[in-house]
Amino acid sequence: MTKILTLKNVSKTFTVKKSRAYSTTHALEDVSFDVEDGEFIAIIGASGCGKSTILRMIDGLDFPTRGEIRLRGEIVTGPGPDRGVVFQQPSLLPWRTVQRNIEFGLECNGMAAAERQDRVAQYVELVGLGGFEGHYPAQLSGGMQQRVGLARAYAVDPGILLLDEPFGALDAQTRVVLQTELERVWRAERKTTVLITHDMEEAVYLADRVIVMGNRPGRVTDIIDVPFGRPRGEELRASAEFGELKQQLWRALQRGMGVGVA
Ligand SMILES: Nc1ncnc2c1ncn2[C@@H]1O[C@H](COP(=O)(O)OP(=O)(O)OP(=O)(O)O)[C@@H](O)[C@H]1O
Ligand SMILES: [Mg+2]
Repeated sequence: MTKILTLKNVSKTFTVKKSRAYSTTHALEDVSFDVEDGEFIAIIGASGCGKSTILRMIDGLDFPTRGEIRLRGEIVTGPGPDRGVVFQQPSLLPWRTVQRNIEFGLECNGMAAAERQDRVAQYVELVGLGGFEGHYPAQLSGGMQQRVGLARAYAVDPGILLLDEPFGALDAQTRVVLQTELERVWRAERKTTVLITHDMEEAVYLADRVIVMGNRPGRVTDIIDVPFGRPRGEELRASAEFGELKQQLWRALQRGMGVGVA
């Protein structure tokens, strides 16, 4: 397997000016991990441990203070079409329809109109939005907006998908439905994916490996292999093995937070 993404000893310090003094946040310390081509990785950790900071740096919107991030061997120097991102809050263009939102990245890449139509139709179907192509974001539920966000990210066919708690703002039932959909889409496309989540079930259900982060400063405390085959279905969620792995993850998270576990 080829490594598509490598983080090596990545540390990040933020310095913020408060009135006349400077305050420093040591957000990440020595974060190292690799992602194989075609792998689904989840990153889980307490609020504030630096998950979004990692994702923003992989996306090239911010840079490590120390250490390096390489995509296909090249140091990340800025954003690019090789990465598709979905953020926690829907970030659709409100004046564009579903169709035109998904088309947006394709237009930026200079794709011809006919080819764009085909591509959009394919991904509208894949995320289950058939019939809603002409709707505007304000006419969709939060879950549907996140589906559009996923379709938009997939449509440009990036080398790697970066998902920052894409279902974080949704209710529990909608989350489960969208996790199941995402697993199905992932099987269809086998696109390398880095998913940030604070939901243990989401991590275990979707990922091949779960990277567990501890706090203050943010660092990797465990990497847990998820041995379940695919497709993953409702039986898996209800199984004893699934429950045990969730427990294992919970203990790892507590260790990372410095909470004693009996
Ligand atoms: N642009 C910034 N300027 C200053 N500090 C920042 C900046 N971005 C993040 N931080 C700090 O870095 C730390 C990590 O933030 P980050 O948003 O990466 O956490 P997170 O793990 O994504 O949290 P959450 O689960 O709540 O989204 C926090 O202490 C935060 O205050
Ligand atoms: Mg975050």
